[in-house]
Amino acid sequence: MTTVLRVDVQAPAKVNLFLHVGDRRPDGFHDLQSLVVFTRTGDELSFSPSEGFKLDIEGPFANALTSDPDNLVLKAARALAAHAGMQDGAHIVLTKNLPVASGIGGGSADAAAALRGLAKLWKLNLPHDVLHKIGETLGSDVPVCVESNSAWMEGRGENVTELSGIPKVPIVLVNPGVAVSTGKVFAALKERRGVGLPRPPKMQNAADLATYLKTTGNDLEAPARGIAPIIGEVLDALAAQPGALLSRMSGSGATCFGMFENTSAAQNASTAMRARQRSWWVVATTTD
Ligand code: C5P
Repeated sequence: MTTVLRVDVQAPAKVNLFLHVGDRRPDGFHDLQSLVVFTRTGDELSFSPSEGFKLDIEGPFANALTSDPDNLVLKAARALAAHAGMQDGAHIVLTKNLPVASGIGGGSADAAAALRGLAKLWKLNLPHDVLHKIGETLGSDVPVCVESNSAWMEGRGENVTELSGIPKVPIVLVNPGVAVSTGKVFAALKERRGVGLPRPPKMQNAADLATYLKTTGNDLEAPARGIAPIIGEVLDALAAQPGALLSRMSGSGATCFGMFENTSAAQNASTAMRARQRSWWVVATTTD
């Protein structure tokens, strides 16, 4: 048997194209409905054999995180090892390209990537629904990040149905550099659209998708704007860019996305957004 020396895994950023919130459940979480897509930008993780767990964090947002045992990547590693009865550890290197606590998966995508990467390193051959179940214990967004495919998300986030046929669209992600706590945004939530929407209709292109999305919204946008008013400035600036089809916040914020007619409009918009405020994190990418 060959020994696996190193496994490299991508942790793509997720975007909630819309997010509707329903009732608060007895477990304290809210029911939600969301159309989730993934982008070509994200964090990167590598896993190699080691005794015990060791996490090194590199990359542009490395300073925003610590490798203490509470790090979601290490929690995922321990949860998978416990499930599989594994004694082995791993040396994990996380390249943190995405801003933290920012509504685009980040920690959840990293945790899901840790489950996928370590299952491969340890040759566990576990079906993804087992990884989903472990992911649920780590955070509401972890299950959808296990597959990292376009999905219809319900429940507190654990009911994930893959959706094919969502048009791939050029988007620009902008984070104004404020970390927003998901728990605080939910606590400040007043108006909820509720859950009960049917699955989306067939769509041909970015314009169809934008038309559909305009019938929806992100219920967490208003409370997040209350906590971090700069989110409103980002949304207005994105909407004003030539070729913009839609601007909206993802997840509980503060990252916002603009959806564009074509890649050159998205590129031009990203240049303009960067010039507007040099401290903002701005990436032009495409949904996958
Ligand atoms: O699961 P996650 O760690 O992302 O949730 C953070 C907090 O956000 C929860 O403790 C809860 O207060 C709130 N939340 C919620 N309903 C959800 C997801 C999160 O109320 N579906």
